Order: sequence, then structure tokens, then C-alpha cells
Amino acid sequence: MKDQAVKLRELVNKLNDRNLGFDDESKEDFTFREKYEESSKNARVITITSGKGGVGKTNITINLAIKLAQLGMKIIIIDADLGLSNVDIVLGKPTKYNLSDVINYRKDINDILEEGPYGIKFISGGSGLQDLVKISKDKLAHLLVEFGKLDKEADIIFIDTGAGISDTVMSFIYAAKEVIVVTTPEPTAITDAYALIKNIVQKDKSKNISIILNRVENSEEARNILEKIYQVCLKFLGIEICKLGFIYNDANISKAIKRQEPFIIVYEKSIAASNIDKIAKTLARINNTENEKTYGLRLFVTKLKLFFNS
Ligand SMILES: Nc1ncnc2c1ncn2[C@@H]1O[C@H](COP(=O)(O)OP(=O)(O)OP(=O)(O)O)[C@@H](O)[C@H]1O
Ligand SMILES: [Mg+2]
Repeated sequence: MKDQAVKLRELVNKLNDRNLGFDDESKEDFTFREKYEESSKNARVITITSGKGGVGKTNITINLAIKLAQLGMKIIIIDADLGLSNVDIVLGKPTKYNLSDVINYRKDINDILEEGPYGIKFISGGSGLQDLVKISKDKLAHLLVEFGKLDKEADIIFIDTGAGISDTVMSFIYAAKEVIVVTTPEPTAITDAYALIKNIVQKDKSKNISIILNRVENSEEARNILEKIYQVCLKFLGIEICKLGFIYNDANISKAIKRQEPFIIVYEKSIAASNIDKIAKTLARINNTENEKTYGLRLFVTKLKLFFNS
């Protein structure tokens, strides 16, 4: 089996031949664009990913989403895990429909939005996302127009990617303006996170990359590691990543998972919950609305379209 770094390199090489900018849009895309721009708002799209699998992405996504909802924001999670979709499992709410029902015209995107705690909504990618590269142009355009409808439903759309690096996962990383990379303090996880950041930056230096360090033993360790990653990215990649925060290794997290309930709710006084609180507030403070027209969901959908149509 090829390791992730090799697969990633191959994908990036493939991607380097594709222009993901706005300039390439052909005239025939006009109707699509017109239709899409009917929506008035522009939700932030944040892809949550990692170099190494199993570092805590899904748990962080869900608990962060709930915290932001508690702070008054409208949040949607798209579960883009192509293997075992598990946002619904962590929330204890198995989903009946997924994006393949939207792609195949059986459901509208609003019909497959499931509701979680504090009004957060989530969508299961399911098998729909696995085949994204293979679907027809018509179906893809239909899906992207459906995605556009989410603008009205959300302030932030989180995309929780799975461990495997597929074409679809890479497309989400490249299309989203904001990417959160999760890592643990393990050297292998950090190396994989750096390799991923490097590949993203090689393609698009303007992306906002943040890092969350998960499962730390103490805050000093956390600050040291975050600072090291920051410095390495500055020195070798010429980018400033945002040190979004850290989360302690906390036994309450696995206890909550066993109960299929988010730790932010059942262990609200836990150290991990206070770490999430801090991260949520930092994330909410980041002002990414400086250029509404070329940001958020609108840009995301346009880039996805170019990615799959090229
Ligand atoms: N801060 C933490 N403290 C203790 N355990 C944790 C912490 N974060 C995650 N875990 C454990 O790690 C496991 C994996 O977490 P999670 O499923 O969120 O990772 P993931 O990155 O989404 O995995 P995948 O790459 O498979 O999608 C959890 O089931 C939980 O037991
Ligand atoms: Mg996951």
C-alpha cells in the first residue's frame, strides 16, 4: 500500500496542471454562476483535515460546531469522510440520506440536513462524495447549485475530511479558503501535518491555514510545539499559520464518545471543553469577510467546479 505522502504528492502533481482561479471560467458557466449568485449571504467554508488519520478531527469539528452554535452562530457540518462516516455516529444520530441522494436528484440538499444539538446541522457525504470525480457535468452542476443553497442556512460550514487522501478530499482542501490542520504532538503526526501544509502552500499561498494541536499533556508542551510548527512554516514555506489552539489529552473525550454524546455538552466542565471554548472564540473572532465576493461558499463552489471540470 502506498503511504499517504506518496499519494499526496501524486495528487498535487496532478493538481498543478489545473488552474483553480476564477479567470478560467468559460462563458458557458454563466448560467450556473447567475443561478448560484442568487443567494445573498456568503458562509465561511472551513475544511478540517490532517496528515495522519485518527488525530481527532471529527470530535473537534463536532464540539467546535456546538460551541460556536452556543455562541449564536449557524453551523453546518459536511461529513466528507469517505470511509466510515462518523459525524452521525458521534452524535448518536444515524442519517438516512446522504449527498448521493442529492447528486441523483432524489432529494434537495435541505431535505438531507440533519439537526444536532443546539441547532447545528449536518450532512452525510456517504457514497456520494466517493464518486464525485466520475459523475456527469450535469449532476456536478446540480450538486454545486444545491451546495449554494447552504449559504442561507449557515454562518460557517465545516467540512470534516476523512483519513484517506482522495481526489475529493483534496478538492475540498483546495477549494476552501480556510483550512484547519489537526495534529497530535507525535513526531509522525507533525511530520505528516507539515507535508500536507507544504503541499497546500505550493498550490495556493494565500490560503488561511490554522493548526490545532490535540491530545497535549500540558500547555507548555503545546505552546512549544505550536511555536515550532509556526517557525518552520515561516522559515521554509514563507507563510504565517494561525496557532488556533490546543486541546488536552482528556479521558472525558473517549467516555463521551462511548455515550455517543458530545463532550462539550456532557462534560462541559472538562479541560477539553474549556480548550474548545477558547478555540471557538478565536475562530469566531477571525474576520474573513474583507472581500465577501471572493470568499466563503461562493468561492468554494466555483473552485470545486473548476477542479472537477478540468
Ligand atoms: N483530546 C483527546 N483526548 C483523548 N482522546 C482523544 C482526544 N481527541 C481524540 N481522542 C480519541 O481519538 C479517537 C479518534 O478521534 P476522531 O475520530 O475524532 O479522529 P479523526 O481524526 O476524525 O479520525 P479519522 O482520520 O479516522 O477520521 C477518538 O475516538 C478519541 O477516543
Ligand atoms: Mg474523522
